[in-house]
Amino acid sequence: MTTHHTFPPDFLWGAATAAYQIEGSPLADGAGPSIWHRFSHTPGLVKNGDNGDVACDHYRRWKGDIALMRELGLGAYRFSVAWGRVFPDGAGAVNQKGLDFYRALVDQLLEAGIEPMATLYHWDLPAALDDRGGWLNRDVASWFSDYAQTMARALGDRVAMWVTINEPWVIATGGYLHGGLAPGHRNRFEGPIATHNILRAHGAGVRACRAETKAPVGIVLNLEPKYPASDGEADVAATRRADAFMNRQYLDPLFRGAYPVEMPELFGEAWPSHPVSDFDLITTPIDFLGVNYYSRGLTKDDPGVAIERASRVRNPSAAYTEMGWEVFPQGLSDILVRVADEYTNVPLYVTENGAAFYDPPVALAEGVDDPLRVAYLREHLLAVRDAITRGAEVRGYFAWSLMDNFEWSEGYARRFGIVHVDYATQTRTVKRSGRWYADVIRSNGVSTN
Ligand code: FCB
Repeated sequence: MTTHHTFPPDFLWGAATAAYQIEGSPLADGAGPSIWHRFSHTPGLVKNGDNGDVACDHYRRWKGDIALMRELGLGAYRFSVAWGRVFPDGAGAVNQKGLDFYRALVDQLLEAGIEPMATLYHWDLPAALDDRGGWLNRDVASWFSDYAQTMARALGDRVAMWVTINEPWVIATGGYLHGGLAPGHRNRFEGPIATHNILRAHGAGVRACRAETKAPVGIVLNLEPKYPASDGEADVAATRRADAFMNRQYLDPLFRGAYPVEMPELFGEAWPSHPVSDFDLITTPIDFLGVNYYSRGLTKDDPGVAIERASRVRNPSAAYTEMGWEVFPQGLSDILVRVADEYTNVPLYVTENGAAFYDPPVALAEGVDDPLRVAYLREHLLAVRDAITRGAEVRGYFAWSLMDNFEWSEGYARRFGIVHVDYATQTRTVKRSGRWYADVIRSNGVSTN
């Protein structure tokens, strides 16, 4: 017997992308280069030498892409603005053509009946600002707030929801601690400085948007619930450290105005002290929180690992995605409920969720059949519904991603799309997961047997 699990009536169904991952034409119409342009053009840093020069060519094909969104029946589209298109030098003079691109995109989305959710920062810092210290320079908060104000003044209420920054933990950890992401630093002292300036910039950005628009403003965190690999004391303590490092390092300052007590112990002499007044800025109230969820961390004590002294254990009975991430839908439900119970009453949105599984580079004549992705999405949507039943105020869900794209240091080797992209011809083919998701949207729910 088929059961249909319905969602609340106004639930927002969307899909997400990010500028550098899809747009291509990174220097077109006067845009300034970003740290990702530089990083991907440095030999050896991105798999197969891939870069975002062409990506999905969305900068030129955006009209067709919106038509595709319409075909899927999306109620919302989460995209990011490339800061360097609008401010080629990161600060100072505005590049009108860059601004016009996003204005046209937003207008066309509205015409198609799709709510635009704009992320102001999805990892592509203008290179000119990196030359001035980037996220390590305290001035980044005012550079970001000027940029946010410009965007909010230009697109104000036509953008339905504004996100300041995508995934502070990944920016600070990938960019400044482990170096796998731009700008590629490996420095224990820099991670916490970057984190703090990202959070300050976020607060300043919220205030700047508020001055120009009534549209809701929020931030997106990647949250990965940690579960101990055993009941042993050492693993339980490691789990607490890993949670402090990845989740509470961001949730606590945003909603409680202080970093977790574990931080000085984790970073040792690299943990800085911060002016108390910074936390007034960081705790600037937000209208919603976006949660990106992909996996959990099954955690064991591991003294050899810097900072969190913990590592992930493989779960022999679970499925894994091509990223090597455990498929664990219950983690999404658990983290949404935890955020609602312990941190905030603001509405929650799942701003990214999805999976890389193998799809052929060229779509077959009969289409792209991706049953593993369909199963992943189905299980995670049921987990979202479960979280709502458990009392979390979840208002929407955005599949990552609308289409296959440039997966950062993994290049084009990882496909997350519900729409397939043939990079040689730029042909888009809706995968079975995309058609399945369109059904979910149409019926406002998920069917199970
Ligand atoms: C998230 C990023 C997004 C994409 C997915 C797979 O961390 O926000 O751009 O790379 O992971």
